[in-house]
Amino acid sequence: MEVKTSLLDNMIGVGDMVLLEPLNEDSFIMNLRNRFDHNEIYTYIGSVVISMNPYRSLPIYTPQKVEEYRNRNFYELSPHIYALADEAYRSLRDQDKDQCILITGESGAGKTEASKLVMSYVAAVCGKGQEVNKVKEQLLQSNPVLEAFGNAKTMRNDNSSRFGKYMDIEFDFKGDPLGGVISNYLLEKSRVCKQPRGERNFHIFYQLLSGASDDTLVKLKLDRDFSKYNYLSLDSANVNGLDDAASFRTVRNAMQIVGFMEAEVQSVLELVAAVLKLGNIEFKPESRVNGFDESRVKDKNDLKEMCELLGIEQSVLERAFSYRTVEAKMEKMSTTLNVAQAYYARDALAKNLYSRLFSWLVTRINESIKAQAKTRHKVMGVLDIYGFEIFEDNSFEQFIINYCNEKLQQIFIELTLREEQEEYIREDIEWTNIEYFNNAVICDLIENNQNGILAMLDEECLRPGTVTDDTFLDKLNTICAEHQHFESRLNKNSKFLTDHSLPHSCFRIQHYAGKVLYRVEGFVDKNNDLLYRDLSQAMYKATHSLMRQLFPEGNPAKVNLKRPPTAGFQFKASVGVLMKNLQTKNPNYIRCIKPNDKKVAHIFTDSLVCHQVRYLGLVENVRVRRAGYAFRQPYESCLERYKMLCKKTWPHWRGPARDGVEVLLTDCSVPTEEFAYGRSKIFIRNPRTLFTLEERRRACLEDLATLIQKIYRGWKSRTHFLLLKKSQVVVAAWYRRYAQQNKYQKIKSATLVMQSFIRGWKARNILRQLKYEKRCKEAVTTIAAYWHGTQVRREYRKFFRANAGKKIYDFTIQRIMQKYFLGLKTTTMSPMDNSWPAKPYGFLEGAHTQLRRIFHLWRCKKYRGQFTEEKKAVYEEKLEASEIFKDKKALYPSSVSQPFKGDYLEIQKNPKYQKLNSAMEEKVLLADLVNKINRANGKGSPRLFLLTKSNFVLADQKTGQVKASVPLPDLASVSVSTQSDGFFALKLKEGSASASKGDFLLSSEHLIEIITKLHRIGTTAADRDQINIDISDEFLVQFKQDKVCVKFIQGGPKNGNSAACKRKNNRLLEVSVPSP
Ligand SMILES: Nc1ncnc2c1ncn2[C@@H]1O[C@H](COP(=O)(O)OP(=O)(O)O)[C@@H](O)[C@H]1O
Ligand SMILES: [Mg+2]
Repeated sequence: MEVKTSLLDNMIGVGDMVLLEPLNEDSFIMNLRNRFDHNEIYTYIGSVVISMNPYRSLPIYTPQKVEEYRNRNFYELSPHIYALADEAYRSLRDQDKDQCILITGESGAGKTEASKLVMSYVAAVCGKGQEVNKVKEQLLQSNPVLEAFGNAKTMRNDNSSRFGKYMDIEFDFKGDPLGGVISNYLLEKSRVCKQPRGERNFHIFYQLLSGASDDTLVKLKLDRDFSKYNYLSLDSANVNGLDDAASFRTVRNAMQIVGFMEAEVQSVLELVAAVLKLGNIEFKPESRVNGFDESRVKDKNDLKEMCELLGIEQSVLERAFSYRTVEAKMEKMSTTLNVAQAYYARDALAKNLYSRLFSWLVTRINESIKAQAKTRHKVMGVLDIYGFEIFEDNSFEQFIINYCNEKLQQIFIELTLREEQEEYIREDIEWTNIEYFNNAVICDLIENNQNGILAMLDEECLRPGTVTDDTFLDKLNTICAEHQHFESRLNKNSKFLTDHSLPHSCFRIQHYAGKVLYRVEGFVDKNNDLLYRDLSQAMYKATHSLMRQLFPEGNPAKVNLKRPPTAGFQFKASVGVLMKNLQTKNPNYIRCIKPNDKKVAHIFTDSLVCHQVRYLGLVENVRVRRAGYAFRQPYESCLERYKMLCKKTWPHWRGPARDGVEVLLTDCSVPTEEFAYGRSKIFIRNPRTLFTLEERRRACLEDLATLIQKIYRGWKSRTHFLLLKKSQVVVAAWYRRYAQQNKYQKIKSATLVMQSFIRGWKARNILRQLKYEKRCKEAVTTIAAYWHGTQVRREYRKFFRANAGKKIYDFTIQRIMQKYFLGLKTTTMSPMDNSWPAKPYGFLEGAHTQLRRIFHLWRCKKYRGQFTEEKKAVYEEKLEASEIFKDKKALYPSSVSQPFKGDYLEIQKNPKYQKLNSAMEEKVLLADLVNKINRANGKGSPRLFLLTKSNFVLADQKTGQVKASVPLPDLASVSVSTQSDGFFALKLKEGSASASKGDFLLSSEHLIEIITKLHRIGTTAADRDQINIDISDEFLVQFKQDKVCVKFIQGGPKNGNSAACKRKNNRLLEVSVPSP
């Protein structure tokens, strides 16, 4: 943001009184008035800010204004309190100098407002962040709490601070706030019990009654009506422009932000309520026998409620209002209190209770806002202390307040006027002395430890015997008689004897800010600040948690007979500490002036302003500024700061700093009257000169910054470039290598291909050549062979023709036969083997077949030659069977493989047939079990069949008894079927001995063997004919008388596989043979 305004631009009057021409009181006030009329409420005297109270809100505290003044040079813009705040904050942050902001002025001149403006400015420009913002918020919100409890409406100011406040704000090295510490000075506690006309008690009472909820009020046993409370004067309970109810909410909110617990807030409000209740306790006299009056509580209701609020036993408090324990020489005595004393005690209790509550609040706030970090802090102190007060009726409080203001003036004088002059002398700078009033003498009058007024007062308070305010005044009259600033009617100094403006019970002090008349009444009491021990002990006994903390001296275990330090003494001590503290810091002054007594805007009362200007010593201040030099700095730091403005001193000056500064200033063509050379410092007369230097320095710094930037950027770019270059070389090298490798590989493989092609081509050429040569050679050989052949054949033809053909033929045939016979060797000797090699040549066909037949016969003969006699017989039998049955009966093939055993019953061995065997006369050739077929039903019954050479026998199977024995000559023929059944009929010769029994129809499993054996016997026997074997499917059988036809039919098997015989009719038996 481009800001056009400057201290010199659009100036109304002059912004800096140092520039005022001519300089006198009138022109000074005229200038103030002129500016005030144009809403310019701030004016400088050098670095001091004069602030006129506008009594209305001006649009000069906006966030834009904050931005405008932020980080700007003090003299750069039109005067503003922000410029001072900014200067202080920056030199705190950048130069590490602790700061204090001293705000002085009369009550209502705008000190408290100024202090708040400074704090809010600093809060706005310093660091941000969650933690920092919380600290800021807590610091700022401590104000409404303290104002509610410590401010009140007075005649001069609707929101007058009734306590002094000094707040140290602590910052870290970056300039971020860490926390703070608040010190409070002397609360005007008399206000709790009594307020001057037109003034109010402390805000909190009114705020509580108007703003608290009905509930809270009931809890606190309070009534909304102000008029119910003695301590709240009625005439100005409501103040225009003050909304107590809203303020109450603000305060509660602020307390919460600062960190008060809900219970703590409640306790605080209970104490406030207790103070109000206390004020309502009234006393009545009760006559005692000894003639003295004794006080009694009039209406005990308020007392009761208060005791309930604080948790005090009512009787204890009641007694404390009627009696007082006095200790003298280790003895305790109880004296009664009269009504006045009771009221005194009550008020003392109320005042103490309230002021201790206030101090507790400050301590509690400090606990919340104190800096957490233990690192070194930078500190900015803001002092907002009650201003100089001159009332019609001035009492102890005003005396104390004014004393404090004297001390502040001392500091101001010390640090600005005297310090300045002394420095010029020290630095050997030509200097015309400026007369100014040094108020040290007044301070001495008040605070001197031997004969100062405060010391006198303390002495009087401690003195045994009757002490009154008058004895104190007498003492002052004797001791301070000679002092120029002390005035009293009864003074030894006779010049005041006739001064009627000076009442007898008063003394007057000529303060630096004017004469003030003090009424001595109450001085002793207030200084003593006496609270009867009975009361403090009663308070200590309270169950309310806060009370014990507030009245520690009430602890009976710690009874301290020593008097507590007096109020005056305490105040002096704390002011002393404050002054020491301020002296260690860099001071910044805001001098507040109020333009009128009516608290209204736009009115500028010359006389009032003139008075303030005079006692603040502002004109002298300007004079000193003007006569002297606005700015000074040790040579070293000056050279260090501005050396860049001159080529000779930049970047280093070798030689004494003073010479360097001289060279520098000459080079910068600063007019010689603008500066002076001291012993160790350079003095610059005009702020503007300094400002010019600063301006040039800033421009130069910008150039330097650009230069540094330029070099840094160059360096950075170059480094970057070099790095890029290096990397590029590496990349390129690798790439080239890779590319070359690739190229080489390609060339190599191409070469190989070409090589192989060429070699192939060459090889093929050679091969072709070789092949050609070979063919040529072969051709030659062939031709030669043929040629030779031809030649030989031509020559030998005549010898060959006769025999060669036959010889070759014979040889060939011989070879072929040889090969053929060798091939026949593979055939086996088994007669069963049918294999025979195939004929190799057609011409061998006949021989081949014959050979095969001969060979077969031969190997059969060989085979037979191995047979024994028995085996031979068996085979002969088998051969006979074959002759009989082969191709005639279907049963035959199945019998071929079965050997003819003959004796199937093992008749010789089996004992069962012993008898039967022995009955046989000849050797049994065959013994078998057969079925004899019954003519009647065709069923068979088992019979043993035995065959010998001469007969066959049928015997009972079980008993072995011979049923029939037929000599073989009686057997005419045997009939069998063509089929696979085992039926056979043994037909007997008609007319033979056996024929009477009839033929036998039998069936046997060994049919083939039986018939063959029968046949053999027939062939071998010489005496009889051969047995006929009749093979047909229908034959007749002679059963005793009848002939029965046995017919064989082929049919499906009915009884398993065996043939079944069935009687069809009388003459027909049908044998059904299962089809094969
Ligand atoms: N800068 C200001 N702008 C507007 N009003 C102001 C300013 N300074 C003071 N006031 C008014 O003057 C009143 C008294 O100011 P205050 O700071 O309380 O005086 P002091 O603390 O010096 O007694 C304030 O309540 C406010 O109304
Ligand atoms: Mg104030």
